[in-house]
Amino acid sequence: MATADSIISISGVTKRFGPVTAVDNISFDIQRGEFFSLLGSSGCGKTTLLRMLAGFEQPSEGEISIDREAMAGVPANHRPTNMVFQSYAIFPHLNVRENIGYGLRNTDLSREEAGKRVIDALELVKLSGYGERAAHQLSGGQRQRVALARALVCRPKVLLLDEPLGALDKNLREEMQIELRALQKTVGITFVFVTHDQEEALTLSDRIAVMSKGRVLQIDAPEALYDNPNCREVAEFIGTMNVFSGRTMESAKGAATIDARALGKLQAQGTSRKGDYVFLAVRPEKLKLMTKKPSAAMNAIGGVVSAISYRGDRHHFLVKAEGHDRPISVSQQNDSETSATPAKVGSKVWVAWPHSAGRLLSN
Ligand SMILES: Nc1ncnc2c1ncn2[C@@H]1O[C@H](COP(=O)(O)OP(=O)(O)OP(=O)(O)O)[C@@H](O)[C@H]1O
Ligand SMILES: [Mg+2]
Repeated sequence: MATADSIISISGVTKRFGPVTAVDNISFDIQRGEFFSLLGSSGCGKTTLLRMLAGFEQPSEGEISIDREAMAGVPANHRPTNMVFQSYAIFPHLNVRENIGYGLRNTDLSREEAGKRVIDALELVKLSGYGERAAHQLSGGQRQRVALARALVCRPKVLLLDEPLGALDKNLREEMQIELRALQKTVGITFVFVTHDQEEALTLSDRIAVMSKGRVLQIDAPEALYDNPNCREVAEFIGTMNVFSGRTMESAKGAATIDARALGKLQAQGTSRKGDYVFLAVRPEKLKLMTKKPSAAMNAIGGVVSAISYRGDRHHFLVKAEGHDRPISVSQQNDSETSATPAKVGSKVWVAWPHSAGRLLSN
């Protein structure tokens, strides 16, 4: 749906490379000023979609418009976009200032104006004073900042970023995530950010498109994706999710009871038809370990603790239940009431959760 505020409109876009369909009939809009992420596992088509936005690839079918202009036939250098690549795409033989200024070589800016823009860009990425440094004298994070500055110096309407933090170690990466988000708010440019790291996407984005096999499974804000995934694949890709399968026994007023065979009767939010095969999805932090079976007001599954790990602020348990292949994952916060480990490996426990904490998924 194209709205007044959408800057990118992708409509029925497919990209085939010979027999491979890399992007399969995708349609959605990105809003002006949004931090929008494409998230999905390796090979799902993220880079291909980004390259079509940039103009490095042409769609086999469908249309892309940017800032209300159809992009068919518009070459990359005439699009209001700029791209930052995963590998450090800075020139080793140029210093920092020259690397950043390179983006402006084909513009009709005066030398003075171009120089000023480079200084502004250096400041934006916190590299003021590094202008004369050679590329090889920079750390990985600094090089990635130079790549960002080089893209920003042209003041694109849309910045396309293909796993720009992928090559950085964890600490630097987390630091750069915070900087990147702040930078995006400062410049107000629309960011389309590719990542296969779900935590990174959740931290940074206004909205996320979860992709799989060339298709978009769900587009939503991070909280909505986490709380209300629309299918099992999204549920399991974003964070950890326990998924129980069963058949709907009855469903009314947005709630359903399912027959989960050996696990018994379980209740969840959602509607489905009687007899349908469904999944009940519930997050580890919604589950509680109990030594006695709770009342029928809660779902409960009996099992045996098979592993415990301590994570500082919480304990993480795996519970093996008869008739369920995967261990149930339970994450319990260590507050004053539950500071003692509530169970040991081998203990018989009940895994319990309120009916409203589970989501019914039909596929
Ligand atoms: N130029 C090409 N020729 C042939 N096949 C290609 C080409 N580019 C991409 N593909 C194929 O298209 C599919 C999607 O690739 P793409 O690079 O878009 O994935 P991705 O989601 O970016 O993955 P990653 O996370 O590994 O970077 C893959 O199966 C890939 O092998
Ligand atoms: Mg890629």
